[in-house]
Amino acid sequence: MLDETGRSITYLRLSVTDRCNCRCRYCMPAAGVEKVCHSDVMGLEEMAVVVAACARLGVTKVRITGGEPLARLGVERLVAMVRSVPGIEEVAMTTNATLLAPKARALADAGLDRVNVSLDSLDPDRYRAITRTGSLDDALAGLAAAREAGLGPVKVNAVLMGGVNEADIRPLAGLARDGAVASVRFIELMPIGEAASWPRASFVPAERVLEELPDLAPVGADGVSETFSAPGWRGTVGLIRPMSHRFCSGCNRIRVTADGMLKACLHSGREVPLRGLAPDALVRVIADEIHRKPERHAMDADHASQSARAMNAIGG
Ligand code: GTP
Ligand code: 5AD
Ligand code: SF4
Repeated sequence: MLDETGRSITYLRLSVTDRCNCRCRYCMPAAGVEKVCHSDVMGLEEMAVVVAACARLGVTKVRITGGEPLARLGVERLVAMVRSVPGIEEVAMTTNATLLAPKARALADAGLDRVNVSLDSLDPDRYRAITRTGSLDDALAGLAAAREAGLGPVKVNAVLMGGVNEADIRPLAGLARDGAVASVRFIELMPIGEAASWPRASFVPAERVLEELPDLAPVGADGVSETFSAPGWRGTVGLIRPMSHRFCSGCNRIRVTADGMLKACLHSGREVPLRGLAPDALVRVIADEIHRKPERHAMDADHASQSARAMNAIGG
């Protein structure tokens, strides 16, 4: 359906847990997050009912996110349930891939179409410093398994952090140049959750990538990402620039958190509860929130996100 400004909402991002096996510095506190009581998290069947309501309103694509979605027991079963909802044409997942290698085949068999992999460095020590607990070898094994299982085109997401991983721009882009992945997307760090209190120098514009790789030329757009490539490259580089090039006017998505709250905008403070609603009421509430989806976010260098939730509880 269309929102009040005429944007067509076809994409649901469904967070299945706020927990994660990593503790990325921009996303999670070092100690992790408080354990949510089991009954406060939606069951997988409940999630499938929410997806069905969204599909009735025109959603065709579902992305399963976290925290780390593979940390949720039974996620393969959820993939299968979501895949069988009439109207859902694509089921994707955003994952850190460190738990993916043993699960990639089962996920593909369950109907998962593709994965986007969060990978901020190709240097083992830097990867560990950023994720605090993650192993680069595990992430690369997960990436390879995703390709073998046909969970593609696989995209890599790298958050740009000034003074932390600028040296990784070239090596990461090399994954796309050589065709190891279809696209490497560099994301501008957003002042939300942990990152809201980071110093200004951490927020580097994605333009930095084009300075580093001057052969890259624009080839188009793909969702929230502007796409670039260069002669001889097999894949593309994407820039996701929420800070320097706000893309809200083309936004096509809504979000549902693991505890059953609907967020029409990632950065809005507003969320509405969906749990316990009968199917028709569910459709009405979701339609109402889509209708009044905020026109744009108000973040900039001086204003943090208005979201009351950290990124690990929304899933990006
Ligand atoms: P595709 O389906 O491959 O196009 O993936 P996607 O870009 O929709 O999903 P992914 O989870 O890979 O998103 C990459 C990152 O882009 C997210 O983790 C966020 O950091 C950022 N992002 C995605 N959607 C939005 C949005 O609506 N607003 C803002 N500000 N950032 C977003
Ligand atoms: N700014 C930009 N991207 C972020 N992500 C998490 N926190 C932030 C932030 N503050 C991204 C991760 C991952 C996705 C789930 O969200 O890198 O790709
Ligand atoms: Fe986990 Fe992703 Fe957050 Fe890192 S960014 S702590 S991998 S949810």
